[in-house]
Amino acid sequence: MVSHSGLLTIMERAARKAAPRLRRDFNEVQHLQVSRKGPADFVSMADKRAEQTIFEELRKARPDWGMLLEEGGKIEGDPDKPRWIVDPLDGTSNFLHGIPHFAISIAVEDPRGAGGQPEITSGLIYQPLTDESFWAEKGRGAWLHDGRLRVSARRHLDESLIATGIPFLGHGDFAEWTRIFGAVAPEVAGIRRFGSAALDLAWVAAGRYDGFWESGLQPWDVAAGLLLVREAGGFVTDFRGGDQAMTRKQVLAANDALHSKLHKLVAGALRNK
Ligand code: IPD
Ligand code: CA
Ligand code: CA
Repeated sequence: MVSHSGLLTIMERAARKAAPRLRRDFNEVQHLQVSRKGPADFVSMADKRAEQTIFEELRKARPDWGMLLEEGGKIEGDPDKPRWIVDPLDGTSNFLHGIPHFAISIAVEDPRGAGGQPEITSGLIYQPLTDESFWAEKGRGAWLHDGRLRVSARRHLDESLIATGIPFLGHGDFAEWTRIFGAVAPEVAGIRRFGSAALDLAWVAAGRYDGFWESGLQPWDVAAGLLLVREAGGFVTDFRGGDQAMTRKQVLAANDALHSKLHKLVAGALRNK
């Protein structure tokens, strides 16, 4: 039985405080599908409400820390202290359409991690509808509740299930995604696009998916998930194989064997423009 740190307790408390209202709002949204205006405004309110609850909890616990909030933007804090990175609702389109696949993502970024560079040191991805709490702390592993997570052990592309995020109206590079898809899809057992990058990464950490790629993601989409995959023994890089996944907004995640195979396919696809 493992117990997480006081910091993780704060993060989990914040997520669990926002979750009941999100669950109620999600049930409500299912009834709004048939209205002509649709539930978009309602969902945007639910999103903001969840963020406000998380913000208040985190602020109460660490008043001098800065924050990067998807909805509220950047809040400056003590530059020598860590900051929170929060996505209160990852999988908004699913939520909006009554599809039960979305999560809250909260991460801690230390301004002076390894090599003096900012580094994610704690991450929590909480799925309100399943009550699954994926969490990781630097050097202490990745966990689902109190069960240790490991990335999948599959070593061959032809048995692997790979997740991705597909560009959509106003987001992403269709030509790039299509090239990568054209290189990866024929080699693997299946491709999935479930619509929550945070859960995609949590599921790679849990060995449910064997790998994941997406570009154009924001820090709040991936901060917690990157740590989860790494602490579960996996690799996360940008498309060049470097360690700038968050800053380059390119994520390629998998176990060691599949990561190098996927990276070859991705690099080849991007070379053959
Ligand atoms: C989105 C999800 C989705 C990804 C998008 C993100 P949101 O976040 O993570 O899977 O493909 O690029 O914007 O808008 O639901 O918080
Ligand atoms: Ca998101
Ligand atoms: Ca969001």
